[in-house]
Amino acid sequence: MCGIVGYVGESQAAPILLEGLAKLEYRGYDSAGIAVYDGVQVYMKKAMGRLKVLSELTHDGELMPGTIGIGHTRWATHGAPSDTNAHPHFNKDESIVVVHNGIIENYLKLKKRLTEKGYEFVSETDTEVIAHLLDYYYKGDPLEAITKVMHRMEGSYALGILFSDHPAELYAVRKDSPLIVGHTKDGSIIASDVPAVLRYTRDVVFIQNEEIVRLTKENMEFYNIDEEPIKKETTHIEWDVNAAEKGGYEHFMLKEMYEQPKAILDTFSPRIKDGQIVIEELGMSDEEIKSIKKIMIVACGSAYHVGMTAKYVYEGLARIPVEVDLASEFRYRDPIIEEGTLLLIISQSGETADSLAALREAQEKGARVLGIVNVVGSSIAREADNVMYTWAGPEIAVATTKAYTAQLIAQYLLAMKFAHVRGLLDDMGLAGMIEDLKKLPAQVEMLLNNKNRIQRFANRYLGAKDIFFIGRGIDHAISLEGSLKMKEISYVHSEAYAAGEMKHGTISLIEEGTLVTAVLTQEALYKKMISNMVEVRTRGAFVMSVTNVDNTEAERASDYVIYIPKTNKYFTNSLAIIPLQLFGYYVAVGRGCDVDKPRNLAKSVTVE
Ligand code: F6R
Repeated sequence: MCGIVGYVGESQAAPILLEGLAKLEYRGYDSAGIAVYDGVQVYMKKAMGRLKVLSELTHDGELMPGTIGIGHTRWATHGAPSDTNAHPHFNKDESIVVVHNGIIENYLKLKKRLTEKGYEFVSETDTEVIAHLLDYYYKGDPLEAITKVMHRMEGSYALGILFSDHPAELYAVRKDSPLIVGHTKDGSIIASDVPAVLRYTRDVVFIQNEEIVRLTKENMEFYNIDEEPIKKETTHIEWDVNAAEKGGYEHFMLKEMYEQPKAILDTFSPRIKDGQIVIEELGMSDEEIKSIKKIMIVACGSAYHVGMTAKYVYEGLARIPVEVDLASEFRYRDPIIEEGTLLLIISQSGETADSLAALREAQEKGARVLGIVNVVGSSIAREADNVMYTWAGPEIAVATTKAYTAQLIAQYLLAMKFAHVRGLLDDMGLAGMIEDLKKLPAQVEMLLNNKNRIQRFANRYLGAKDIFFIGRGIDHAISLEGSLKMKEISYVHSEAYAAGEMKHGTISLIEEGTLVTAVLTQEALYKKMISNMVEVRTRGAFVMSVTNVDNTEAERASDYVIYIPKTNKYFTNSLAIIPLQLFGYYVAVGRGCDVDKPRNLAKSVTVE
């Protein structure tokens, strides 16, 4: 939820910290702060608001001398966004300074104990407890104090810590919040995510739970919670640095929408070999695939919507019953996991706290878990029994587009593989579907190139109060995602409804001019959908429909029609979602919203 960065070396630390934070701002952006040490004094500057406020205050870091430092960009959990609650946080004599990403669940208890011992708190954060607790245990050996504090803390944390009497050492710790470290040409760096370090190094070490790193200009030493040295492997990051830059687009979201054809291609092409679908990472023999009795899909937000679509695809193609759950519900409902269940956790970041907890819950109950993950080396990727990566590349905009698209492709591939192995899809059927899959990138591109028409339409709805999205079957799943895109970035209230459900309540909200977006891509349901569209239209709704190019019938019941090219009936989501993403995007742009960083949201939801 927050982003942390740290540097120790020969260069001035502040500009490096600010630059790293800029790359992590997607993780939190209500306040930011840095602390830099020049061997004499620890300089600290914190500011509410976007990072640029802090940059201006510090003259891009020039006012803060020192070659070691830590920085933080915050998404408030404990205590409102404010200068005081912003990180870093000091201990009482300002000799220890800490930045933290995560949540200390027992912080109230710890705060009470520390207060009884005379510690005074200036902020409302859970993080300040860590600074004072370190102070309490510190007797000159940072490693010893850190491990003692780790034993006392419950919850999740990635920490960057400086001790002023160890001026050449930067400490970093992790439990259930992401952390990477690496060497630059003249020092060492820590960060919550790869984009923050890419400019300095492509060789990074992913820190695992309950591991500690001591970084100096020349070295990185790794320890476990028992203070024993451990060995770590380096991972080389292949990404193009430009992948984490805007590259001429007005927003990351627009750029990432335009990267969808590539995300689709990169996700399916390595898995199609000689006309067969080969998913080695699945780690399942044909016999095991045949014995799958049920699939459970667990995810949050847009990834959950992918699961909703996937349900229709697995059930329709492979005739495997599917249950889809929100991770935040699944983890607390004592789910029944029967033998023969394959459990899928879908996650872009691989760090979503609820999805990670659901994964652990499922594994404890004996399920075999397949992670469908975008971020390589993330917690879900590591903890799942098997991991199938979506190759969407780094996604920066808070609202997901290309990762969602790549997640859908992963689901199609699995469903096609399962259906083929189980004898429900013959070679010819498979070949036809592969052909349709191969056409998707160009079809998506064509829809994206139609953006001006959607922008013009969006401009008419900048003042809309409510927008409804309706559909049946897969189209209901598309509607859910279209509606989420709209509301999360434009702040226009919108709701997605299974079209047949409207008359059980929601239709009472329809009045003259209410915009209803109808998605109808499933031929078998055209007639039913058209009846629902007529129902809302006769009550004054303006109906915009998204349908297949051959369904001119839809015009009869619509005021505005967007056509998508013909594809396999299970793949329509990948096309129909494009105009809906563009629609949400242009309404948000027209309303002057901060598209890439919508209020109150963060990209990686590492807290419950
Ligand atoms: C919406 C969005 C979120 C995420 C959700 C899960 O645009 O991005 O709803 O889909 O927070 O995140 P991951 O996929 O990282 O687990």
